Amino acid sequence: MSAERGVLMDGRAAADAVLAVVAEGAARFAAGYRRPHLAVIIVGENPASQFYVRSKVKAAERCGIDSILIELPAETREAALLERLGRLNADPGVDGILVQMPLPAQIDQQRAIEGISPAKDVDGLHPYNIGRLAADRPRFVACTPLGIMELLARYRVRTAGARAVVIGRSVLVGKPMALLLSRKHETGDASVTLCHSRSTDLASIAREADILVAAVGRAGSVGAEMVKDGAVVVDVGINRIADPASPKGYRITGDVDFEAVRPKASLITPVPGGVGLMTVAMLMRNTLQAAEWARGERHEGNPAA
Ligand SMILES: NC(=O)c1ccc[n+]([C@@H]2O[C@H](COP(=O)([O-])OP(=O)(O)OC[C@H]3O[C@@H](n4cnc5c(N)ncnc54)[C@H](OP(=O)(O)O)[C@@H]3O)[C@@H](O)[C@H]2O)c1
Repeated sequence: MSAERGVLMDGRAAADAVLAVVAEGAARFAAGYRRPHLAVIIVGENPASQFYVRSKVKAAERCGIDSILIELPAETREAALLERLGRLNADPGVDGILVQMPLPAQIDQQRAIEGISPAKDVDGLHPYNIGRLAADRPRFVACTPLGIMELLARYRVRTAGARAVVIGRSVLVGKPMALLLSRKHETGDASVTLCHSRSTDLASIAREADILVAAVGRAGSVGAEMVKDGAVVVDVGINRIADPASPKGYRITGDVDFEAVRPKASLITPVPGGVGLMTVAMLMRNTLQAAEWARGERHEGNPAA
């Protein structure tokens, strides 16, 4: 364990480095074939979702990945979305497909996810891809936990033998995070506890953690009393807090009480500037991978196609 305290894990620098590698790979791929291609679907006009899809499209541009943004009206019916997904699945010019969540109430989120071909599921949310991760044969892994693993590796955080506590068990973040950390693999091999809203005595469980990942969705839910001295703290939360002093009237904050926890943590991710940027970088890496695999699969008949 490092003797230093409060060192920031810089998500921007790490994401830039990942994007530079993706850009090289995308250029190589384009030179031999065509540019990788990502299709992003957004339904309705949720401002946060619009912000996220714009940042994904911008990142794609930056690393030489073509992207198409398909904006569907809020009243779009589930059948229409599934039909659109079917066409994208069948289009050999599209490598990766992403449906931005949340979806309007008339569309079942899970059916939408399952409407994406597992071979183009660059968000790693299709049950096929989650199953592969659980079976220790990962293919597309959800971008946020994947980005956290990348960040831990870049900061040389040793996971093998470490005690890790993940707070939050969503299919998007907490569950795949726990699976990745506990994999029988050099990047895993941690002893993982997965906590949630029904966990009792959360603080004492969290205090055991050498690596603490907070994916709760509540500002300030991890205080200093929940953190062991020298722990690595990863804050996934993105929470909007009213802030009259900010021109927007709000500010973005994580799940961790940053000021209180930082002096105890050896390493800590800031919000913003931490995990969120890594998530987008991993989406680009997955898209390039989808393009490369799809090309290989045409020749090799890969069973994941
Ligand atoms: N940085 C990024 O790129 C990124 C990406 C995705 C999400 N996020 C953010 O990460 C946060 C979590 O996202 P999510 O999609 O995983 O959220 P989610 O689906 O709402 O899951 C939240 C999890 O936290 C648990 N929880 C809620 N209150 C709790 C409490 N008081 N104590 C312990 N556990 C509690 C819930 O338990 P139950 O299962 O028992 O309900 C659930 O498992 C959100 O702020 C989201 O905006 C950030």
